[in-house]
Amino acid sequence: MKSNSVRSHYNNDVETRAGNAYEFDRWHKDPVSQAGYDMTKIGIKRSLKGLDSKNCFELGPGAGTWTKVLCAEFPSIHIDAFDISSHMLKMAKENIENCDVSFIEGDFDSYDGDEGVYDLFFSSRVFEYLPNQKKALGIIAKILSPGGEGIISTKFPRGDISSDLHKGRIHPKVFKKLLKNTELDVVSICPLTVTVPFFKSSKLNKLAFFLLAQIPFSFVHSLFCESYIIRFKKL
Ligand SMILES: C[S@@+](CC[C@H](N)C(=O)[O-])C[C@H]1O[C@@H](n2cnc3c(N)ncnc32)[C@H](O)[C@@H]1O
Repeated sequence: MKSNSVRSHYNNDVETRAGNAYEFDRWHKDPVSQAGYDMTKIGIKRSLKGLDSKNCFELGPGAGTWTKVLCAEFPSIHIDAFDISSHMLKMAKENIENCDVSFIEGDFDSYDGDEGVYDLFFSSRVFEYLPNQKKALGIIAKILSPGGEGIISTKFPRGDISSDLHKGRIHPKVFKKLLKNTELDVVSICPLTVTVPFFKSSKLNKLAFFLLAQIPFSFVHSLFCESYIIRFKKL
């Protein structure tokens, strides 16, 4: 997706649709959205296990929903929260308290960060927007210090594409292939948000989430997975 269209969507369309209530509209407006929030929070916290980040780059914090979780997990963390949308950054600033966060407006597609600065790269539901995902992984490898880790959640390519914005959805196998020629090594890939088709039931979705977490990633997951989370390490 071209960066200008993404910027315009998050600065204009999102503001028109939800005003300053993006976070509520996205994650809490009904039981199904709330279940998605609960699954994502559990999945992110599981993926962060064993880490103690002091300096994190967060790509696309949006309204700061998961920035707050990072701050709660790592009390002495500094986060550079980097987003293409001034509207989203404004909401994040209003939403985040008692945390050392620098808010940076920019397009990751034309970002050329300093080498080896961060011990954690984090991004939730942004990777599918990036026009050049291979290049993005190169930059992520560059800005991570050796031994630093990355956590990315992204949409699973299930069903029809609902919007042009999500054309960059890739299967975990494709993600793994993209990582092959970088200095980044996969640590784990797990389902994140799970929806049972047709029912729109938060209870069924949560049950499927619980059951699918018990077995290795497989064809079965493709039927229910709406998003997944990948953790990787810089060599
Ligand atoms: C779907 S929202 C996700 C927000 C938040 N991470 C969450 O999970 O609720 C995508 C965010 O990524 C940002 N974004 C998309 N493409 C970007 C790019 N090329 N550079 C920086 N930020 C980008 C958007 O402005 C938006 O805030």
